[in-house]
Amino acid sequence: MTQFPSSFLWGAATSSFQIEGATTTDGRGPSIWETFCATPGKIADGTHGDIACDHYHLWEKDLDLLAWMGVKSYRFSIAWPRVMPTGRGAVNEAGLAFYSRLVDGLIARGIEPMVTLYHWDLPQALEDEGGWRVRSTVEAFVAYAEVVAKRLGDRVKYWVTHNEPWCIAHLGHGTGEQAPGEKNIGVSLRVAHHVMVSHGLAVPVIRANSPGAIVGIVLNLCPAHPASQSAADLEATRWFDGFFNRWYLDPIFGRGYPADKVADYQREGALPEGPLPFVEPGDMEAMAVPTDFLGINYYSRAIIRDDKAEGNLPAVVQSTGVATEMGWEVVPEALEKLLIDLRDEYGPKSILITENGAAYGTAPDGAGVIDDVERQAYFRGHIAAVGRARDAGVPVDGYFAWSLLDNFEWAFGYEKRFGLIWVDYETQERIPKQSAHLYRDIIAKAVAGEVAP
Ligand code: FCB
Repeated sequence: MTQFPSSFLWGAATSSFQIEGATTTDGRGPSIWETFCATPGKIADGTHGDIACDHYHLWEKDLDLLAWMGVKSYRFSIAWPRVMPTGRGAVNEAGLAFYSRLVDGLIARGIEPMVTLYHWDLPQALEDEGGWRVRSTVEAFVAYAEVVAKRLGDRVKYWVTHNEPWCIAHLGHGTGEQAPGEKNIGVSLRVAHHVMVSHGLAVPVIRANSPGAIVGIVLNLCPAHPASQSAADLEATRWFDGFFNRWYLDPIFGRGYPADKVADYQREGALPEGPLPFVEPGDMEAMAVPTDFLGINYYSRAIIRDDKAEGNLPAVVQSTGVATEMGWEVVPEALEKLLIDLRDEYGPKSILITENGAAYGTAPDGAGVIDDVERQAYFRGHIAAVGRARDAGVPVDGYFAWSLLDNFEWAFGYEKRFGLIWVDYETQERIPKQSAHLYRDIIAKAVAGEVAP
């Protein structure tokens, strides 16, 4: 049990496409996610984000819920096509005004806004020009970042450039599980590069327009543990760790791409022999731009066995232990170890847990109470793990629960519920789950200087 400092940034997180709805309102342009949702077979329950939690209209109610929980910060994302309907050029004032109102609403409630510029809803017009596969999208992102930072930078201090480059690259372009749905590992590596370069080039632009900005990137990290100590399992674990974690961490911390992974991808035919074709002069320096924090989204670990399950991917063995409804094993200790390992290996000056949470479908009982015991245990366990890592000297300065609301869980549609707050999608009623009450208590205790959780 730990005492968190009063400065610790307790928060909750969401993203634009998952909650806003109103995809054609007030001049918003189409994004790749509408296109993906309209493609038969892509979304498990055949749904879309057209209405979602209708947050675009119900935002004040949602901010009141944040205030009730006592969070100090709210991490939300900006829908690029709301601000620039075709991705570049013309700015849609109505879209910007929505986020400006949201920021003012947060500040009025004493909540620190944290803006994520890109949480996957790329304007479709940019995708039509090649999307993240082409260099011109890097420039478009930097121009978009400038527009947003100019408008909100007087009030927003915390900025995230990108959410989870691995998902953008690999799930979007490697396996095709997410928009835009391409299946080509070589392309996914080019995409990853462009996303990370655009991060690097956007950071100084944000700083120039937002005095005192605290800027970082958010990586989803999945610690890889070998299923056994056999040479084959250890080798498969190295492969997976490089593919998932080091490919992103290494360039951001100025080490360039990991040589072992470049060799893997060359051997497997995803990259040609010789210099990486997508790297231009100055790119590696841009990606390594100093930031103020490393954002980490942590959900689970992976146990790796040397089975070539799909393509060259080693098998991720599902543990026989406790798992959420995503099938993700619940291992708070792996978060503690991840944080300590990151400190030892990369030495980030500050870490924010920008997402952590669990999918469970627990619904209201006859009395309207949602006693989501598994989610409560998940939060308790993981917040305690963060506390232990802090006690061990890891500079973790904040924790954001995923998610404020049940919402559109990408390819899973509305089937998976991650919210602290239940959403009835028919009526748009919101009901705080027992986990929201727990989180509220944890924050209140921590802020009062008591030991939590
Ligand atoms: C993360 C995403 C977030 C949400 C959670 C469950 O990968 O950033 O939008 O879908 O997973």
